[in-house]
Order: sequence, then C-alpha cells, then structure tokens
Amino acid sequence: MKILAIETSCDETGIAILEQTNDAIIIRGNALASQIELHAQYGGVFPAMAKRAHAEKISSLVIQALDEAELLEAVENPIEGVDAKLTFLADKETTLRDHIAPFLTYYEKPMIDYIAVTVGPGLEPALWVGINTARALSTIWNIPIIPVNHMEGHIVTAAIEKLEDDVYDFAALKFPLLALLVSGGHTELVVAQKFGQYTKIGATRDDAVGEAFDKVARMLGLQYPGGPAISALAKAWREKNISNIFELPRPMLHSQDYDFSFSGIKTAALYAIRDLTAQAGHEQLTDDDKSALAAAFEDAVVEVLVKKTIDAALEHNTPTIVVGGGVAGNTYLREQLMKKVAKVLPDTTLLFPETWLATDNAVMIGMAAMAQALTGQIKTASSDELKADGNLSL
Ligand code: KG4
Ligand code: ZN
Repeated sequence: MKILAIETSCDETGIAILEQTNDAIIIRGNALASQIELHAQYGGVFPAMAKRAHAEKISSLVIQALDEAELLEAVENPIEGVDAKLTFLADKETTLRDHIAPFLTYYEKPMIDYIAVTVGPGLEPALWVGINTARALSTIWNIPIIPVNHMEGHIVTAAIEKLEDDVYDFAALKFPLLALLVSGGHTELVVAQKFGQYTKIGATRDDAVGEAFDKVARMLGLQYPGGPAISALAKAWREKNISNIFELPRPMLHSQDYDFSFSGIKTAALYAIRDLTAQAGHEQLTDDDKSALAAAFEDAVVEVLVKKTIDAALEHNTPTIVVGGGVAGNTYLREQLMKKVAKVLPDTTLLFPETWLATDNAVMIGMAAMAQALTGQIKTASSDELKADGNLSL
C-alpha cells in the first residue's frame, strides 16, 4: 500500500510518499519547504502569508516527492478537462489552481492507494491549501482521501521504531502509551489505549510551550522560531556555569492535575529583563545575561514538563512514554526526562522522534495514516466532506 501525504498546518509545506510492506513502513519520497525565513522577518506566522507560500510551493513538492519515489511519469498527450474538474478551486485558491492544474494535465496518475492530509489543528487558511491539494489530486486521479489529525502525526512519529534509514515499524510498541505533546500550538498529555483511541488527561491553560519559547526568544532579540536559539544559549550557559543567577517560577508544578501554564514564566522573564536593563541603565542585555535567562527559562519549563509526565506515567501505569512535537527536539528536555525515567520508571520505554521528524513534516501525516491501516480502521472522507478545523482535538 502506498500513501501520498500532505502537511500544511503551519509554516512547513510537506509532501511525502510512504509504502507499507509486510513488515515495515518505507519512506519513498519526502519533500519539505520551510517558510521560516519568510516569517522570521515578522517574528511569527501570519496565516494569509503562510497560505500563499503553501499554494505557491506545494505543486513543485508533489513533483519532487513523486520523482524521488520513482512514481513521476510525464504523459504522452495532455490530459483533457482538468480545469473543468477543478472549478472548486476557482474563488479562493487561484494560486494553487494555477500550479496544480498544469501538473495534473502533464503527468500520469501515479500508483498511489491513498492521499492522507492534515485537516487540523492549525491555521485554517494554511490547512485549506493542503486539503484543496488533496481534493484536486483525488478528483483527477480518483484516489480516496484519509483525513489526519496533525497531533496524531506527532504521536505516531515519536512511537515508530527505526529499522534502518527510511525504514520503520511499530511492532515492538507496548500500549497504553503516554504522549507528551509539545509544539508551537499545543502542550498536552494524552493516554493512547491504541492508535486512534486517545484520552487527553491535561493541557496548557494558556500558552503552548513552543509559543513560550518563541515569545521569550523575541524578548531576548533572537530569531523566530525561538526554541533552538534559546536552547543553544542555555546550553552555553550551563557549560560555563554551575548554577543559575535567575530563578523563574514553576507554575502549576504542584497543582495535582496534568494541566500546565506557561504565560507566568514568560511574564516573569519579561520583568527580569526589565529589572536588569534598568539596573544597568541601558536597553541591551549582555550576552551573559541572555544566556542565563535562556537557561533559567528552559530549567523552569523542563522541570514542569518532566514532573507532570512522570506523575502521569505512574498514575496511568503506561509501559511507554512518547514525546512529540517541535519541542521534542529540545536536548535539555530529552536529557532530563531520560534521567528521571531511568531513576523512577526503569521498566518504561521512553521514545522521542528523530530530530528531523520532530518539527512539522508530511512523513508524520503518512505515518498516522499507516497507523490507522495497522489497526484496521482506515477512515476515508469524500472530497466534499473535508473541512479544515483549526481547533481539532484528538
Ligand atoms: O510541531 P512544530 O514544528 O509546529 C507546530 O505544530 O506548532 O513545533 C514548532 C515549535 C516552535 O515553537 C519552536 O520554537 C519549537 O517547536 N521548537 C523548539 C525546538 N525546536 C523547535 N523548542 C525548544 N527546543 C527546540 N530544540
Ligand atoms: Zn506540529
């Protein structure tokens, strides 16, 4: 079985081709275009700009991924009537139509069984580009569509086992699993009895953890997205110094539930910066101050994430913990969680995605569709039923 997967929920445009064989899932093609440089100038993602960039790029990524998978073949004679069948792109998706219609006119239908596409959560204008791409491909090629929840993609990608480069499987996975989902839009703890069956046991009450990283990075004058930049400064500080000179709060650390709050840490960081610059009598923080603050912020956030995750794993008795989403790429979070699990839950398997799969991509969307196939519950939707849902929950 082969799947063409599409991801456009935020600022990464992704197309991937995955194949399921008897004993493995193989990545046959993977094309990804980041809009980070575009959004970095503004310090965050503007939905209308994201939509346009997805629409301009996505057709060339479909070509690139199909080519890599050796599924791209030009037609001898142009396929007739493509435009007439894509009238649903006429009003709001003219950029997409102008790119995808020529592709569908001059290339053969590839040997693909399903198209998987992110339908939420995310930025709705951005999501619609992926959905309308799926509808266009599905209409012309007559291939069914599997709608995918982006967060399920993050869970599944953290849970897969790498057998060799581009070859994965789920065989050894023990359920129920506890998923800590940490991204730019989400901070959640979820218990999965199996793929497709999820119970959210806690979530942030205000900012997502990735969002907090991005906001504090901005206060420190660092580029969007701020996670990797904060993390690098914090690491440099820890390597030079034994202790931290700032102490930021740990909101809800002892709240007896699995909810989180990160806006207080962010505000405390803002006050710390204000006090420091007032004391020094100038606007700019020194490089050392920035590193120390980055470390203090990361310490506070990671301590809360680790404590709640360990408590949840103990209470729910989950043999597996997975960490998914962009912040799962954070080295300090990985180290601290590994240490604590080894100490408190030595029989628990702790899984992280490979770093290149932690941030948004289409492989994760294809993997989520493959996970549905493995549980025998592929849910397809007709082209007309598909809808972007910015707040879709698991
Ligand atoms: O999952 P993702 O790529 O997109 C969403 O679905 O939101 O996550 C992006 C978020 C951004 O907020 C980014 O700053 C954060 O993940 N991030 C990190 C790291 N890499 C990405 N945060 C902390 N440490 C990192 N190494
Ligand atoms: Zn994501």
